[in-house]
Amino acid sequence: MKTLIRGGTVLTATDTYVADVLVDGESISAIGAHFNPEQADKVVDAAGAYVIPGGIDVHTHLDMPFGGTTTADDFASGTRGAAIGGTTSFVDFAIQGRGQTLQQGLDTWHKKADGKCAVDYAFHLIMTEVNDQNLKDMSSVVDQGVTSFKLFTAYPGVLMSDDPSIFQAMRRAGEIGGLIGIHAENGPAIDILVREAIARGETAPKYHAITRPSALEGEPTHRMIVLAQLAKVPVYIVHLTCQEALDEVTAARDRGYKVYAETCPQYVVCSTDDIGKPGFEGAKYVCSPPMRDKSNWPHLWRGLRSNDLQVVATDHCSFNMAQKEMGLAGFNKIPNGMPGIENRLHVMWEHGVVKGEISPNRFVEICSTNPAQIFGMEKKGRIAVGADADIVVWDPNRKHTISAKTHLMNVDYSAYEGWQVSASPRHVLVRGKQVVADGKYVGQAGDGQFVKRGRV
Ligand code: URP
Ligand code: ZN
Ligand code: ZN
Repeated sequence: MKTLIRGGTVLTATDTYVADVLVDGESISAIGAHFNPEQADKVVDAAGAYVIPGGIDVHTHLDMPFGGTTTADDFASGTRGAAIGGTTSFVDFAIQGRGQTLQQGLDTWHKKADGKCAVDYAFHLIMTEVNDQNLKDMSSVVDQGVTSFKLFTAYPGVLMSDDPSIFQAMRRAGEIGGLIGIHAENGPAIDILVREAIARGETAPKYHAITRPSALEGEPTHRMIVLAQLAKVPVYIVHLTCQEALDEVTAARDRGYKVYAETCPQYVVCSTDDIGKPGFEGAKYVCSPPMRDKSNWPHLWRGLRSNDLQVVATDHCSFNMAQKEMGLAGFNKIPNGMPGIENRLHVMWEHGVVKGEISPNRFVEICSTNPAQIFGMEKKGRIAVGADADIVVWDPNRKHTISAKTHLMNVDYSAYEGWQVSASPRHVLVRGKQVVADGKYVGQAGDGQFVKRGRV
């Protein structure tokens, strides 16, 4: 099957040029001027639009048990949302449950995803227990194309690992070509602040942010970078939210350390004003690390421009309002997480490109090309001959109103409810198969396949 994407402007991390793109089977076979449409079985119209590599969201939680409940989106609903929003690959966090082997954790996530995904998928593995056997088993996980591990300095008693455990996992990852992702918040100190707030009767959602101050993100960011440096492993700070943490990343990169960091759309467009909304409305914005004061936004945009932040991912972790209401009596029982897999490109284009914070090429770089490179997805993140034909015809004039009434995610609210954006996907292809046509989802469960990632 040959598909011709005709009349568009190819937009990559480095270039912008008018060209047709020919897809043969699952890959891009030619890029050039005025291809004859008769050589293709199908023509996809890209006139007036950009032709960009499909978005890659390297931070999602689908079908994940968390905070006494399970996320609203599973691998079917979440990935339909991804597709319609222009994300053609994602990396979800498989979890090694306490008492499980790494392999059991991974097998569980393969079962959850198998046959359900609308777009291509890969896994990181969250390690919750570090012992000799698990350290040994890390190499077999890497051999299976799961080349990154996430460890937490937050959520004591649930997901947190202590420094000796993290240091050992880092050293092992360094030996076997793995990458370590870190959720950097000082969980034990936060737990004390939370306990004291609840005891004072401070139960509203906004206290979630107040009890997780940015200094307690900056401190473990520094500590983890130091440990990673000693362990000789690249470290990737997930969901970075604030100036304190960014300053640590910037300083380390200036010293030449292999430190990467991502932020998320919600941290550059939402703030403590949102979590502080009256009644229980703020619960929609309860995630960790929390909403920050909007004085952090310019720092994060600076980081995105200067490459101190290389990636924007969503940390998509959706809960319906009935689930959020588990925390009506106390913010500490609100399941942490926000939906967003469907809206990453919408929000980053509107608030990044349209508002002049980043260039269109940088948009492609942080939403697709860098994630592919950092996480070893060699055939993705590029419009190039031989690359996977994961392609979005991105229409800068296709207006869209974000709303829970119309989104494909299985969650009953949107953090961006009613927001108008000026650009959205016209067509989306996943490895050559069209899954969105004229803004409508036309794919099916199972279109997405597992991506075995390379070593870093
Ligand atoms: O609030 C969040 N971020 N929930 C998902 C789990 C995590 O820490 O990434
Ligand atoms: Zn996290
Ligand atoms: Zn997360």
